[in-house]
Amino acid sequence: MARTRIAEILKQDTPPGTVTVMGWVRTKREAKSFSFLEINDGSCLANLQVVADRGVSGYDESVVAARTGASVKVEGTVVPSQGQGQRWELQATKVELLGAAAEDYPLQKKGHSMEFLRGISHLRPRSNLFGAVFRMRSRMAYAIHRFFQERGFVYVHTPIITGSDCEGAGEMFRVVTMDGEAAKSGAEEFFGKPTYLTVSGQLEGETFASALSDIYTFGPTFRAENSHTSRHASEFWMIEPEMAFCDLAGDMDLAEEMIRHLVSDALESCAEDLAFCNQFVDKGLVERLQLVRDQAFERISYTDAVELLRASGETFEYPVEYGLNLQSEHERYLTEKHFRRPTTVYDYPKEIKPFYMRRNDDGKTVAAMDLLVPGIGEIVGGSQREERLEVLRANLAEHGLEESHYDWYLDLRRYGTVPHAGFGLGFERLLMFVTGVANIRDVIPFPRTPGAAGF
Ligand code: 4AD
Ligand code: MG
Repeated sequence: MARTRIAEILKQDTPPGTVTVMGWVRTKREAKSFSFLEINDGSCLANLQVVADRGVSGYDESVVAARTGASVKVEGTVVPSQGQGQRWELQATKVELLGAAAEDYPLQKKGHSMEFLRGISHLRPRSNLFGAVFRMRSRMAYAIHRFFQERGFVYVHTPIITGSDCEGAGEMFRVVTMDGEAAKSGAEEFFGKPTYLTVSGQLEGETFASALSDIYTFGPTFRAENSHTSRHASEFWMIEPEMAFCDLAGDMDLAEEMIRHLVSDALESCAEDLAFCNQFVDKGLVERLQLVRDQAFERISYTDAVELLRASGETFEYPVEYGLNLQSEHERYLTEKHFRRPTTVYDYPKEIKPFYMRRNDDGKTVAAMDLLVPGIGEIVGGSQREERLEVLRANLAEHGLEESHYDWYLDLRRYGTVPHAGFGLGFERLLMFVTGVANIRDVIPFPRTPGAAGF
C-alpha cells in the first residue's frame, strides 16, 4: 500500500504533487459543496488538511460517513493552503473509508484529563500529547544508542530472569511456573533454584566490562517496591553503562555528558513535539532544557549537601541528618532552589548504599553518585565498583549477603580485576525530564504500577 507520510509532505519546500495519504480523521467540517478533513497518521504532530469537493469519487460513502476516529485513504494533489495555519493542503480526488469509527469514539476534540486517557491506554497514542511523548520516547532511545555507539561502547543484552538481587533491597518479582504448588514446596523450581525478574543488569554488565572495557545495557527492569509516587513504576527501562579502567570522576563525567547530549538532541530533533509540550504540559520546559544544555552542572559531596540542607532554613517533611537517605524534597531543593541546575551528589555513607560500591579511604563513605535534575530529583544512580577481592568480601558480609551466591562476581576480582565504574539512567525519568510530563505512567505505553497492569 504505497503512501506518503504526512511528515514527509509537510516538510517539503515545494508541494510534492500527487500523493496517497492514509490516516485517522481528527476532525471534519462539512460545508454545502465540500468538506475539510483533518488527517493525522502519527508521523508528526501536525495534521494534514484535506479538502474534498462533493464531486470527488466516493464522497457519500466515505467523506460523509467518516467520523472522528475513522481511518481513510485519500488520493489527491498537494497545493498551497488557502487557509491559515498550514502551508500545504491536500486537494482530494478520491477518498476511501478504510475503517469506520463508532459514534462513541472516546477521543473527542475537547481536552481530556490524564487520568481519563490512562484508562484508554490503547487509544491515547492517537491524541496529540501521547503522540508527541511516544515519538520522543522512540527518538531518545535512538539517541542513547547513538551516544554510546559513537563512543565505542558495546551493547550487551543482560538477562531478564536472574538469580541475583543486585541492589540487595529484596524488591524482586519471583519467577514461578503456572503450577503454584510445586513452586511453594520449592521442589520443582524450573531453573533448579529461585529466580526473579531483574532489578538491574549491572552485575552481569560488569562481567562484560571486564572483557570488552566499555559496555552498556538498555532493557526492561522490574521492582516490586510498593511506592505510590509519580516517579516509580514496577516495570521500567534502564540504561546501564559500565566502564573498565574508570573511577568515580570519569563516571560522573560520562553521566553529565550523556544527559547534556540527550537534552540537546531532544531540542534539535523533536522541536515540534517539544513546542507542543511546552505549550500544553509545562510552560518553562524549553527554556529549562536550553539551560541544561548550555550551563555547567553542579557537584557536591553528600556530607556537604547535608550541611547545606541543614543550614538552608527550609522546613522539610523528612529529617536531614548524616546517614539518612536524601528524600525527593531534599533533592529538589538542591536542584530547583539552591543550585538551579542539575547536580551530582557523591560519596554517600556506606550504610545506605549497596554492597558493590567501592569503599573510600575515609572508611565511612563509598564512591557513589546520584545525578539529580530539577523537577524530578534522581535520574541517574551509579558508583565506582569495589574491585578489591577482600574488601568486596567484607562488604558482602556486612550487608548480610551469602558469598556463595556471588561466586562468579567475586571471580572478576580473582582474575585480572580492574578499577571500574558505571551507572543506571532511568529511561522514564529522562522522558519525564525532556517532556515535562509529571507522572511516570504517562511516558510508558502500558504502565505497570502496584495494583495496575491493564492491557
Ligand atoms: O539507583 P538505582 O537503583 O541504581 C541501580 O540499579 C544500579 N544498579 C545502577 C548502576 O550503577 N548500574 O536505579 C538507577 C535509576 C534511578 O536513578 C532511577 O532513574 C531509575 O533507575 N529507577 C526507577 N525508575 C522508575 N521506576 C522505578 N521504580 C525506579 N527505580 C529506579
Ligand atoms: Mg538510586
